[in-house]
This record gives sequence, structure tokens and C-alpha cells, in this order.
Amino acid sequence: MSLGDAGVETAVTFPGLPAIVPSVRRFVRGILADLPCADDMELIAAELASNAIRHSPAGQDGGEFTVTVRTGPGWARIEVSDTGTGEWNPPQGDDPDAEYGRGLAIVAALADKFGHDITASGQTVWAEAGWTEPPPPGTAGVTKEIRPTEPMRKRGSQTSDCPASEPS
Ligand SMILES: Nc1ncnc2c1ncn2[C@@H]1O[C@H](COP(=O)(O)OP(=O)(O)OP(=O)(O)O)[C@@H](O)[C@H]1O
Ligand SMILES: [Mg+2]
Repeated sequence: MSLGDAGVETAVTFPGLPAIVPSVRRFVRGILADLPCADDMELIAAELASNAIRHSPAGQDGGEFTVTVRTGPGWARIEVSDTGTGEWNPPQGDDPDAEYGRGLAIVAALADKFGHDITASGQTVWAEAGWTEPPPPGTAGVTKEIRPTEPMRKRGSQTSDCPASEPS
């Protein structure tokens, strides 16, 4: 049985320091191990953690953010929560060479769904990926789907492993 079959929900709170991002990656990798999409989810977690540090109070003196990893049969979800108000002020401009504004584009490309929720204690940015579980021997195949969550952006079917980026 894989970790995903067992189902996991675990969270770690990190100090809001840029130097902590590699630890976030290792945490996510340690939980997801060899599950499908582990590579993608590790990168997603790094982008979301970087954003929390850079764009929210998590990056100020004494600031913290929390990374939660959830898995179930055929799906994994990363959540990064910080104490931001939920009001975002993205840099303006359409310069494709600009060295900012790429993190969420990467998340959108890698995740099946991602979103941004405002909570009582701050905000949570989350991303989900799903894959098809191999059917148990001697049974008909059953397509597993990730949990329905209102997406910020949703790509089409989630039935293939980590499908390549495509516009929604
Ligand atoms: N946790 C957050 N709190 C507040 N604002 C955020 C948060 N995450 C993203 N944003 C807003 O969304 C914008 C886009 O984020 P994105 O990660 O795509 O780009 P970036 O962080 O500005 O640059 P890059 O990731 O390319 O270094 C940010 O500039 C910021 O305004
Ligand atoms: Mg970013």
C-alpha cells in the first residue's frame, strides 16, 4: 500500500526565512516520497512558500507560515497558510522577460487545480494533483478523482499522471 492509499494529513510551521525553502521541499518530498506528482508538488510547495515569505507578513520579523500536505487514493494536496490579509498586489506589466510573476504560472501549469482561500487567521494558497490508481489485480479499473474543491484554475481531466501544462 502506498502512502497515498493510506491517506496522510500532516502540517509543519516554518519560520518565514528564504533560507527555509529547501526544508519545505524536503518536508514535502519526505511525505510524498515516490507518489506520482511528488516532483511537481515539491516545486509547487517551494513556490507557494517563497510567496508567503516574500509577499505576506510571514516574511517579517518573527513571521511564520504553515505547510500542510494531504493525500488520499489518487490525489495529493499542498496548502501554504500565512497571516496575509488575502489582498494581493501583483506587479503590473506584461513583460515576458520580467523576473517576477512566474511562480503562480508554474503552479498553474503543474497542478490540476489551485486556489486561494481567505481564512479566519489569514490566507491559504493550495494546489492539488490527481492520478489514476492502478486497479487491484483481478478487478475492473476504477478511475480515482481528486476531491472536488472550487478551483482558482482548473485543467481538464485529471486521469493521467501529471499531464503536461495546457490552457484551461
Ligand atoms: N502569499 C501571498 N501573499 C500575498 N500576495 C501574494 C501571495 N502569493 C502571491 N501573491 C501575489 O501574487 C503575485 C504573483 O505571484 P508569483 O509567485 O506569480 O510572482 P512573484 O512572487 O511576484 O515573482 P516570482 O515568483 O516570479 O519570483 C505576487 O507578486 C504577489 O503580489
Ligand atoms: Mg513567487
